[in-house]
Amino acid sequence: MVHIKTTRNSEISENQVTDEKVYRQRRNFIRTGVATSVGISLASYFPVLAHAAVSNLAERISGARNTRSLDEADELNSLEDITRYNNFYELGTGKEDPHEKAGALVTDPWSVTIEGECEKPGTYALEDFLKPVGLEERIYRLRCVEAWSMVIPWVGFPLADLIKQYQPTSAARYVAFETVYDARNPLPGQYSPVLKWPYREGLRMDEAMHPLTFMAVGLYGKTLPNQNGAPLRLVVPWKYGFKSIKSIVKIEFTEYEPPTSWNMANAREYGFYSNVNPEVAHRRWSQKKERRVGELFKRDTLMFNGYEEVAHLYADMDLRKNY
Ligand code: MTE
Repeated sequence: MVHIKTTRNSEISENQVTDEKVYRQRRNFIRTGVATSVGISLASYFPVLAHAAVSNLAERISGARNTRSLDEADELNSLEDITRYNNFYELGTGKEDPHEKAGALVTDPWSVTIEGECEKPGTYALEDFLKPVGLEERIYRLRCVEAWSMVIPWVGFPLADLIKQYQPTSAARYVAFETVYDARNPLPGQYSPVLKWPYREGLRMDEAMHPLTFMAVGLYGKTLPNQNGAPLRLVVPWKYGFKSIKSIVKIEFTEYEPPTSWNMANAREYGFYSNVNPEVAHRRWSQKKERRVGELFKRDTLMFNGYEEVAHLYADMDLRKNY
């Protein structure tokens, strides 16, 4: 039985900063190739991986092997950037609100309901839900529609691994997601009608099955901090950040395109697809440039946020349009 430990304390502790240092040292070690040059296999460097029976989620997260490393032009954002500059409207609309109010989100116990067009609907305790999937680390750029970006070392698993398990039927053409919402006991930001709660997102089935599409349960080798969408969030690196829905409680397979929060709030500004595209301006600002959090000068925004391998998914769409 896996127990997820989540902290109610939203402060960055000395401990967390030390973790970032240890994490970076471990990565440097891997990068210099010491592990292989002295004949130690990576599997023995990450001994937990060698044993499929590892049951503790925190251990599984810290032992997850990196399968997508840093690109030349990128540097990791610090744990502090990643956990103190957030968008999570359920915890407030200010960038520091999610960090300050993180303790309001209780993530243990947690369950995920699978419903709609699939063979195995049901409500699953998170620990059971995560048991069959192998965890890995992926370093991805996250590009917010507000024109800032970060580079984050996530730990999680491909969404495709999860989808296959619940066996969607041939009618399932989309996947819809929902964030936690209890109308009798809302999160601090859910008292405000800034969005229609619960937060909803969706993907077309081929987008959901794409190997880049990821479900995160950790970052920087540790369990996901609440403000980043604990205990389970989506990460779709070639789309604007609002598609990467946090703190998921429901996944539904649907025949028709599901309603999504920002699109419902303002369809002229936020499309269902919302792929990162420097050539398509937001109605109120250009998307040609972006500010990497922590950097002084702006950088060029990359088509699909640099993840060009997804271009074929949109071969029949006119990418100059704002979808
Ligand atoms: N998910 C929920 N449930 N609520 C939100 O307000 N904000 C989105 C996305 N997921 C949001 C959400 C936006 S706009 C962005 S840019 C990313 O989360 C930010 O993720 P981060 O705070 O981990 O960087």
